[in-house]
Amino acid sequence: MSRIRNAKLRNKVMSAEEAVQFVHNGDKVGMSGFTGAAYPKAMPTAIANHAIDAHARGEEYKIDLFTGASTAPDCDGVLTDANAIRYRRPYQSDPAMRNAINAGDMLYVDVHLSHSARQVADGFHGKLDVAIVEATAITEDGHLIPSSGVGNNVEYLDLADRIIIEVNDWQSEDLEGMADIYRVKKGEPIPITSTGQRIGNTYIDIDVEKVVAVVKTDLPDRNAPFKPIDDVSRQIAGHFLDFLEGEVKAGRLTYDGYVMQSGVGNVPNAVMAGLLDSKFTNVQAYTEVIQDGMVDLIDAGKMSVASATSFSLSPEYAEKMNADAKRYREFIITRPLQVSNHPEVIRRVGLIATNGLIEADIYGNVNSTNVSGSRIMNGIGGSGDFTRNAWISSFITPSVAKNGAISAIVPFATHIDHTEHDAMVIISEYGYADLRGLAPRQRSAKMIEIAHPDYRPLLEEYVKRAEAPGKPLHTPHDLATAFSFHQNLAETGSMKG
Ligand code: COA
Repeated sequence: MSRIRNAKLRNKVMSAEEAVQFVHNGDKVGMSGFTGAAYPKAMPTAIANHAIDAHARGEEYKIDLFTGASTAPDCDGVLTDANAIRYRRPYQSDPAMRNAINAGDMLYVDVHLSHSARQVADGFHGKLDVAIVEATAITEDGHLIPSSGVGNNVEYLDLADRIIIEVNDWQSEDLEGMADIYRVKKGEPIPITSTGQRIGNTYIDIDVEKVVAVVKTDLPDRNAPFKPIDDVSRQIAGHFLDFLEGEVKAGRLTYDGYVMQSGVGNVPNAVMAGLLDSKFTNVQAYTEVIQDGMVDLIDAGKMSVASATSFSLSPEYAEKMNADAKRYREFIITRPLQVSNHPEVIRRVGLIATNGLIEADIYGNVNSTNVSGSRIMNGIGGSGDFTRNAWISSFITPSVAKNGAISAIVPFATHIDHTEHDAMVIISEYGYADLRGLAPRQRSAKMIEIAHPDYRPLLEEYVKRAEAPGKPLHTPHDLATAFSFHQNLAETGSMKG
């Protein structure tokens, strides 16, 4: 049966090259797409080529691009290469786009993902012109069946003047039934009290009259594979499990029913591999993305439910998901980003948040986004939504980056996404620093214990300077040398100096 089951919308089928006529210079475009999944596969290239042609004629052609989160080289990448984006939000991780932002060629606004659609709906950014959204099918009633993610699609479809739908044959039709579509309403509680609860529809109802084009595609989600799990990641996973075991011993957690949120990245994925061999069962995820490690936990019978907004799977696991979506949809729920990342629900389900970081300072302030305070890496994503509202917030990181030239533990973080008030436990391959209940001066000792041995003496010297007689001792700092690690890095290529 055709995936476009609505007769009216079947009449709107055209090529991406034809549909690009509906995307104008200066338009605000809301696209589907979340961590390499569910982004439109044909329209970005069509828009990019349109921009290249317009620029060759000496004409202006750039759009403002709003998505769910990061997309892929055939979306963010091609649009960046064509110089087709003026302004981008709310999250990206594309190397070409990152360079363009850091070179000042593109404006980038990095916001908490739970805020992103809400702020568009509240008109903070003016009117949304076009929504370009991938679906796995269109029902007889003209409803969209989400593909491998939901993200901000509901709000963008509601708000945009014009809608372009891409129906992707590569996405499994068995994804129908996985999504739980609920519109967040101001002043009304979201009625989720447990991770696996469904509160909405399996489809997104849209105003069919706004649809200007339907484009057929047959292309895979293109996510980067995770790095192979190395010794350092394995050690970090081991310390994370020690921390969980400590919570069990303290009577605060049981082996049955631990609720996790797991951030994006290689190290969080490695932690999930560690859980496979642990005593924890009936693990539940109330998280942002479904990663390879969660699929393994489901297959091993260790994870009973995973609620997220999107997949973030390696190509191998994306194929696996497509082949077996009927079974996986018994365990997986994809929700709008406003629901998956909503502070209210996160606090209610009482989860342990686990995210990666770029650097943390000796008092537990965390930088997740800006290298040396200025150079964007990816963005805050949902890490703030979860860290701020988790039952316990944790961060996991190798103690050094770039072959030891960069320490993840520094005297003062050069950019702070998560403050000392929110970050509770920080874990490296050298152990875990449990900062809960500690005053700043007690925390610095714990943080230095998890730093790389090469950097511990430098950090201890800093603390000595910061706590010198006559200085305030609540959060001791020596402002003259607070950024000495970063200055050394800029001048010599290593934080060691
Ligand atoms: N300075 C410079 N580069 C650094 C760095 C630092 N202090 N710390 C890490 N990096 C680099 C690494 O070298 C690596 O680069 P490479 O791929 O060129 O080798 C890259 O950042 C990724 O680091 P890695 O150690 O593999 O960890 P990761 O994949 O877990 O990613 C973050 C770490 C911080 C980049 C990632 O977790 C992130 O973007 N977080 C913010 C968003 C977020 O938390 N989302 C989850 C919400 S649900």
